[in-house]
Amino acid sequence: MTTVSGDQGYFDDEFIESFDELLRWRRDVRRFKTDPIDPEVVQEIIASAELSPSVGNSQPWRWVDVRSPEPRAVVKETFARCNAEALQGYRGERAQQYSTLKLAGLDQAPVHLAVFCEDETLQGHGLGRQTMPETLAYSVVTAIGSLWLAARARGVGVGWISIIEPEAVYRALDVPEEWRFVAYLCVGYPEKVDATPELERAGWQARTDPDARYFVR
Ligand SMILES: Cc1cc2nc3c(=O)[nH]c(=O)nc-3n(C[C@H](O)[C@H](O)[C@H](O)COP(=O)(O)O)c2cc1C
Repeated sequence: MTTVSGDQGYFDDEFIESFDELLRWRRDVRRFKTDPIDPEVVQEIIASAELSPSVGNSQPWRWVDVRSPEPRAVVKETFARCNAEALQGYRGERAQQYSTLKLAGLDQAPVHLAVFCEDETLQGHGLGRQTMPETLAYSVVTAIGSLWLAARARGVGVGWISIIEPEAVYRALDVPEEWRFVAYLCVGYPEKVDATPELERAGWQARTDPDARYFVR
């Protein structure tokens, strides 16, 4: 018997505890096992993400399952170039540290998802975005957040790569011009799990005091 009662408008304490655990143990993953993921599991994860909120119920996210070696090679190449350029922006110890960070798991992750925002979608009839057009892209980001959690709940890790040129990804994937590039995600089983962000463990950036980000007016 389940005690979780979404249909009653609440969830029990056990569920809330588990949900908070999921949030605590979600990680940005860059070190993957090469084991394949059952395509059904990938579909389940995307189906969960599809339940996300979106401005005007527009569902502007577009998932591209990148399977071919050619676009994957382009993404690897643009990552390598952008990462080398990013390194040039640091000096001294920071530069040394940056050079040792692992910032993508492109070689090992079995599944690559490029996520776009359909900026010209008619779904939702323009609701909300006439005043704030950027809310379409925000909607896509909420879906990525859900996908991250839905994956982790199934033991699957997700790594978000932003150190790439959107133009190169467009060209490689040949997607419609009105799709805005939002994210390139590596998806696979993590080499190991950890409750602490990898960048914190590497001494790059720890989490800081939440009180400093909470304001009352
Ligand atoms: C919009 C966005 C872009 C990111 N881009 C990268 C990236 O290019 N490479 C990387 O290693 N991590 C990237 N990350 C992951 C963050 O570094 C990571 O979320 C942060 O360090 C906290 O770690 P955690 O996600 O494990 O809690 C990105 C995260 C977000 C939300």
